[in-house]
Amino acid sequence: MVRAMEQFSSDQLYAKVSHSIPAIEWPAFAGDIDAILALKRDRNAVILAHNYQTPEIYHCVADIVGDSLALAREAMQVEADVIVLAGVHFMAETAKLLNPSKTVLIPDRGAGCSLADSITPEDVRLLRQSYPGVPIVTYVNTSAAVKAESDICCTSGNARAVIESLGVERVIMLPDEYLARNIAAETKVKVITWTGHCEVHERFSAEEVRQLRENHPGIVVLAHPECPPEVLAEADFAGSTAAISSYVAKQRPPRVVLLTECSMSDNIAIQYPDLEFIRPCNLCPHMKRITLGNIRHALETMQHQVTIDDGIAVRARLAVERMLEVK
Ligand code: 13P
Ligand code: SF4
Repeated sequence: MVRAMEQFSSDQLYAKVSHSIPAIEWPAFAGDIDAILALKRDRNAVILAHNYQTPEIYHCVADIVGDSLALAREAMQVEADVIVLAGVHFMAETAKLLNPSKTVLIPDRGAGCSLADSITPEDVRLLRQSYPGVPIVTYVNTSAAVKAESDICCTSGNARAVIESLGVERVIMLPDEYLARNIAAETKVKVITWTGHCEVHERFSAEEVRQLRENHPGIVVLAHPECPPEVLAEADFAGSTAAISSYVAKQRPPRVVLLTECSMSDNIAIQYPDLEFIRPCNLCPHMKRITLGNIRHALETMQHQVTIDDGIAVRARLAVERMLEVK
């Protein structure tokens, strides 16, 4: 989703988030928001924010918001000189791969991902040796160096389409074991998995879903496919963060729970104040490293710039571009 933020001041923006940020806390945000809006103009910068960013970032300073797939597609189209990625490091790397002439800033270099940390390029090379000729599909939640060893990337929004586009009987899907098993359950293609897990989504359990249904009659359960398969088996719908948003927009479930990162419910609940969101919350500590303060600092100092070794970038870009060609 692309927005025009420039015409707003922090006072006008408060109306958007007043349901989730108490008025007494607002002055602590307003100064940074006004400074960021001005810095974006001075630096000719845009802010891309993932759906897991906190409401004051998502609703008040981001120009483009979305899931990993949408952010990748939008990053490619950016004409501004500077992209600030309010998200985690692999998302900033993907933006740099797809729009290499731009300055891409990540406000905190430590914003990683347990999935990206679960696999190395050497692991991928060894897998290729173990399964000669089997295509390697790599989740975007990986480093550029891992993408460079892969045949094609995918996100949670297009994983099945990517796998089926290859026209083969077997694929290796890295590194998220649960996403791979959840996709394998939907397709005839045999999927060889790795042992990576998302530290946020692996904490949801089937028992928790059963309890939610007992305690909140009529609740609609929406889950991210990084959750364990037994959780998805208990859910009403599974999809990427964008697919979860679309489900809520179209179906308007009166009482709903999103089995994903906390800020996702905060951001959507602001848009649908008539719906009841039950919030058993799991925070992503990496996403939460990004704050208004460090976004402001990034724009003031033009740090931290994302760079990718040319030899890696050429091969990693191919894997991401192949993914974007899949309809
Ligand atoms: P989406 O691509 O669904 O936004 O997911 C990204 C992510 O990091 C989920 O944990
Ligand atoms: Fe990685 Fe999970 Fe955080 Fe997404 S929510 S960035 S997959 S650790």
